[in-house]
Amino acid sequence: MQSRAHVAGLLLLSSLLLLLFSSLTKSASPLQALSRACTPSANLHKQPTLNVFVTDLPPELNYGLLHEYWDFQRSSDTEKSSTDTGRSSSISRVKISTGEFLTKSVHIPLYPDDPLIKQYSAEYWLLGDLITPANERSNSVARRVWNSSLADVIFVPFFATLSAELQLHQAKGKFRHKKENADYDRQVRVLELVKNSPEWKRSQGRDHVFVLTDPVAMWHVRSEIAPAVLLTVDFGGWYMEDAKEVENQEGPLDVISHRQVSLLKDVIVPYTHLLPPLHPADDKQRGTLLYFKGARHRHRTGLVRDKLWALLKDEPGVVFEEGFPNKTGREQALKGMRSADFCLHPAEFSLFVAVHNALQPKFLVNYLKGISAQRKRSMRTRLANAQQFFEYDNGYPGGIGPVKGAVNAIWNKVSDKVPAIKEAVARERRKPLDVSVPARCQCL
Ligand SMILES: *[C@@H]1O[C@H](CO)[C@@H](O)[C@H](O)[C@H]1NC(C)=O
Ligand SMILES: *[C@@H]1O[C@H](CO)[C@@H](O)[C@H](O)[C@H]1NC(C)=O
Repeated sequence: MQSRAHVAGLLLLSSLLLLLFSSLTKSASPLQALSRACTPSANLHKQPTLNVFVTDLPPELNYGLLHEYWDFQRSSDTEKSSTDTGRSSSISRVKISTGEFLTKSVHIPLYPDDPLIKQYSAEYWLLGDLITPANERSNSVARRVWNSSLADVIFVPFFATLSAELQLHQAKGKFRHKKENADYDRQVRVLELVKNSPEWKRSQGRDHVFVLTDPVAMWHVRSEIAPAVLLTVDFGGWYMEDAKEVENQEGPLDVISHRQVSLLKDVIVPYTHLLPPLHPADDKQRGTLLYFKGARHRHRTGLVRDKLWALLKDEPGVVFEEGFPNKTGREQALKGMRSADFCLHPAEFSLFVAVHNALQPKFLVNYLKGISAQRKRSMRTRLANAQQFFEYDNGYPGGIGPVKGAVNAIWNKVSDKVPAIKEAVARERRKPLDVSVPARCQCL
């Protein structure tokens, strides 16, 4: 299911040794969401309020999927029957649209523990914030409004990642097809419900927010939700198709005209990190220069990674390990990252190295050895300060309670989009009937 593309031309290295562990499949920086908020106190000062109206979707399109996931896990793996999955039969009482459902008895299951899914859990924490009773969410930037005419944005509470992953778990072969694909059916259902709402008709979807962290979320209906604000971890899932178009153009390949995503309308959100944070005080002497753990060969992409692997695997001080993000892999990664000065990593606070340089023998090793202890210390301090903006999990079941940094950083970033959305909606309204204006490339 890994389908993200590798960004051409840049290789990212980081002294970030505490956050994400995945198979290094990310391409662009996932931290755009945080760029405005890199001081420790930033989320204590609430930014502007974002008025959010939540679309009325039935529970089988969000929390019901969690029940389905855990039921499926139980039936397919009886040995794991003791896992704490928070089974509950109270799902029928959940009524997100009115907020009435928040009775004490409602219990929201945990988000899947499987790292391949958990890394995309933003949908769970964002909705958790929105359904938290108002008196417990005074630190959230988002304010829930019950009349959509008061809203800045319309949040669509579809767990698109979980829907896709469920299908991939249950019948992977059907995923790209429309037949016998429950995920596809759900996508169509969401689309029907949303597009028939007065809110969508008013804005053509421009003020709607979809959480699409998994690169294959909403895969079959992307073009139809393209006008909306998409919360994604990068544009890798769109890159291959958009790059193909570029290949057919004449001239230099220096512009990729994304047709459905844009830094102007969308928000790049952090992955959910899977390893516990490292407090700077617990940092130990690091003996390895460069560490990487993940899959050497990737589905469709990862060409640079493969070359680097061949070039660097026997260098002293460099460790490349094949690995899978299960329990063993997680422990190995934790140890490996904490013993290394640098990791191949997609995050910000990175060193950026051009691919053509990195693929020169010795270049990377010499470059990294040349970085002073003082610079490494200062990068690590910045990372420690920024750590809170990666934190989704607020420690409350279902995420129902005061928010952590990642959720607010995302709301802030969405709130930055609001003036442009309002302008686009106003322009649309002014347009004569039966005139269509082609979507333009927003080449940033
Ligand atoms: C929502 O607000 C608008 C504008 O203030 C008002 O006209 C409308 O009646 C309200 N709708 C409901 C259902 O309260
Ligand atoms: C983790 O994955 C690796 C590679 O697929 C496998 O060899 C190992 O047994 C797995 N470990 C656990 C605890 O599942």
